[in-house]
Amino acid sequence: MSTDQQPRANSGVFRTKSVEQSIRDTEEPEHALKKSLSAWDLTVFGVGVIIGTGIFVLTGKVAKENAGPATALAFVAAGIVCALAALCYAEFASTVPVAGSAYTFAYASIGELPAWIIGWDLVLEFALGTAVVAVGWSGYVRSLMDNIDWHLPASLQGPDVPGGSFDILAFLLVLVLTAVLVLGMKLSARITAVVVAIKVTVVMIVIIAGLFFIVGDNYDPFIPPAVTPEGGGSNWDSPLVQLLFGYEPTNFGVMGIFTAASVVFFAFIGFDVVATAAEETKVPQRDMPRGILGSLLICTVLYVAVALVVTGMQHYTELSVSAPLADAFKAAGHPFYAGVISFGAAVGLTTVCLILLLGQTRVFFAMSRDGLLPRFFSVTHPRFKTPYRPTILLGVIIAIVAGFTSINELATLVNIGTLFAFVMVAVGVMVLRRTRPDLHRAFRTPWVPVLPILSIAASLWLMLNLPGETWFRFAVWMVIGIVVYFLYGRGHSRLGREGREARY
Ligand code: ALA
Repeated sequence: MSTDQQPRANSGVFRTKSVEQSIRDTEEPEHALKKSLSAWDLTVFGVGVIIGTGIFVLTGKVAKENAGPATALAFVAAGIVCALAALCYAEFASTVPVAGSAYTFAYASIGELPAWIIGWDLVLEFALGTAVVAVGWSGYVRSLMDNIDWHLPASLQGPDVPGGSFDILAFLLVLVLTAVLVLGMKLSARITAVVVAIKVTVVMIVIIAGLFFIVGDNYDPFIPPAVTPEGGGSNWDSPLVQLLFGYEPTNFGVMGIFTAASVVFFAFIGFDVVATAAEETKVPQRDMPRGILGSLLICTVLYVAVALVVTGMQHYTELSVSAPLADAFKAAGHPFYAGVISFGAAVGLTTVCLILLLGQTRVFFAMSRDGLLPRFFSVTHPRFKTPYRPTILLGVIIAIVAGFTSINELATLVNIGTLFAFVMVAVGVMVLRRTRPDLHRAFRTPWVPVLPILSIAASLWLMLNLPGETWFRFAVWMVIGIVVYFLYGRGHSRLGREGREARY
């Protein structure tokens, strides 16, 4: 066996796990996941998780506060950032078809500590993302319940509602979805397919029916002129780029498009989750790139169309921030459409939650299999073949977070975490090309290193457009992660132990 095919026997934090070792680990029977997904399943998964709170909720907020009708351009900007990252993800996912997404990729290319950082970061992305979407779902369900005059007591409506403290619906949703995941991948894939069909239909209704209610004047001006936010905006909730370079913070204008892009970026999160299912894919080398790029392309086209239609139906200053798609139809005098859209949104957000939760448990599973988290969590269920232990543990924690937490601050934290993972994946592509040029890559990222470098620059740019306080929270989470690594993961790492055994 060549040295390339063994884990490198070094004990440093940059020790890497070989690609062959990563793939071999997945073949141990008690740690193996079932290979049942096709390219079609992956695309459905992708669309299932991508279209969600981002388009259904955040569109209204950014149009009203940051970009006006140019929100469509913000979707284009965020879509470009994601497409660049997707081209890097696709190479990795087709080369290292192992559960854990960016975490596994980083372990095979950059080293153990960066991999741990990514894994820890993805825990943040998926866990908080699940919570954000569960809270958004709960809002739509309450709005539907209001239509038939059912009302929950205010205290059970969640912290975003005046007088509310615990969001019982979001809490219950996460628990039910946890049970679905424990019962098995195939079951959830079937449910997902039906729900995705409903969701895409509703989005198409918004686009096609909405076309008839567009008023040309609403597009004037398409890019509203820059204005200084109330209070000057020079505090920690201003974009970091404005704080760093000390220029006067503004909303709208060309810079407003990028602020909007850093928020609606949330609407694209999920295509990277497709990569976390690589190990459960029948022919990952072929199906992974198709699943990732296909779902991303479909969603980008739909988002741009929805943003154009909604800002054309209602003047951006009048858009609702909680249910903009439905409310634009109400404002146009069509409550029936509004009801259908609310129903579809509530149904559709369910799959988003489900798949984020799935991605979350798979990353946790992979980290535990490597010994960086207790191995107790990486034993699959004897009958269902699912990693039931992390699924249950994380499901319960996320349910509690979803019950008690406000949606707004979490969404930007999810975005910064995801963009950071994009940066690491692009670095990983370049590193792995150098360290393992021999590996078979069914999908090759074009124009390396130019494209990965562009991907890094684009992701960093969006990160810089996020608020200073988001950066602060992200830094705190990461410092905790590094402490956990040095206290537990470093000593228990399977790769580290194998390295030590090889030496003695
Ligand atoms: N992209 C997903 C959403 O918009 C996370 O909700």
